Amino acid sequence: SEFAPRYDHVILGGGVAADAAARALREAAPEASILLLSADPHSPVHRPALSKDLWHGESADPDSQDLRTAAETGAEVRTGTLVTELMPRSHTVVTARGTVIHYGTALLATGSSARRLPGVDDERVTCLRTVGDYRHLRALATEGARIVVVGGGYIGSEAAAALTRTGAQVTLAHPGRRLLEHMLPASIAAHVEEVYAARGITLVPGFCLAGIESGPELVLRSGAGEELRADAVLLGLGAELNISLAAHAGLDLEGGAVVVDRFLRTSAPDVFAAGDVALFDDPLLGWRHVEHVDHAQASGAVAGRNMAGAQEPYEHTPMFYSDLFDDGYEAVGRLDTSLTLREVWNPKGTAAVVHYLDGNTVEGVLLWNTWDQVPAAREIIAASQEGTLDLAALDGMITPG
Ligand code: FDA
Repeated sequence: SEFAPRYDHVILGGGVAADAAARALREAAPEASILLLSADPHSPVHRPALSKDLWHGESADPDSQDLRTAAETGAEVRTGTLVTELMPRSHTVVTARGTVIHYGTALLATGSSARRLPGVDDERVTCLRTVGDYRHLRALATEGARIVVVGGGYIGSEAAAALTRTGAQVTLAHPGRRLLEHMLPASIAAHVEEVYAARGITLVPGFCLAGIESGPELVLRSGAGEELRADAVLLGLGAELNISLAAHAGLDLEGGAVVVDRFLRTSAPDVFAAGDVALFDDPLLGWRHVEHVDHAQASGAVAGRNMAGAQEPYEHTPMFYSDLFDDGYEAVGRLDTSLTLREVWNPKGTAAVVHYLDGNTVEGVLLWNTWDQVPAAREIIAASQEGTLDLAALDGMITPG
């Protein structure tokens, strides 16, 4: 492999974390050679747009979401390139075509893949993770087509809303009693369901998908024997972290994520990790991995600077957000409805601040139709973790709306 090309920095992955790392690296190391290897056939994109902006009519073209910045930095971007091996000892990676590449530092930014249904291989059944998936779903969502979205979580609920804009007939089938019930209080989940029904979405709760039969139409069967018929199916079954490279390389993993120190270094020398795959010690909330774009962006940037030689700790507690028709939220921390919830509503009942408490500790804050309060939400969590929060004053700390 002495003939193998060598780059100062090799980024594995072509998502938001990879893009942020390439930009930060370039700024910190103007002369360095940077290579970005992505299995995706297209340049990095701002993934949240795949279930939001692109369906609103103005910009259905996913190319408008290209984060061309990675290429603009002068980094060499190779798309359609699956990396099959990472060998920390020899500081090399190997691609599916057998190309061996040496690195000075490497970044694991391999993100997640949509969970699929084993044994289902029908092009009318899709998921939503990549630009290709988005294009495919758009093509399936013709006027009047019956589309069943399976899954009542983040992607299922956003995608169902998006699909109503195409003139398709949308059914949302999910195993729970209410949409998003694991994260939203019953009051808000009930409101979301009312809005969905008013927008023409048929909600099918309590539906545990057991299988899909392919025929002239698709037949979805639940474990309880219920049947739904469809022209197309979108699976919103959650995502799985892409950690096989890290696992084969022998990196420390925990709970299926790649353990990093405060500088985002993995257990292997000169190998960093950022984005969905990184298990990091959040200064407010402890060890966690976060599958959200704010974290991908912020951790990618810190990793990039550290690859260039900085010693910058990653001390960001990520926020996340979602849009559901005319409602939306921003949030910090754990939105887990098994915690104790405290809701404060505005007088009109249209906006709320919800605190998620474990005993006296605030673990998460949901800002429902409440904007520009993410820093305040972080401060509440911080004060609570330090034991300096007056719980009696909590309800007045952020005004909903
Ligand atoms: P990401 O998954 O984006 O990228 C991973 C990259 O690695 C891909 O390019 C992949 O091809 C590549 N790769 C994987 N294995 C490889 C290998 N072996 N060799 C080469 N390349 C490999 N978040 C949020 O906060 N708010 C939101 O509203 C939304 N909305 C949303 C909508 C939709 C439809 C999706 C799919 C996701 C969201 N998210 C979100 C989640 C958010 O988009 C996600 O957390 C980040 O994109 C994660 O960024 P990463 O760069 O870590 O991985």
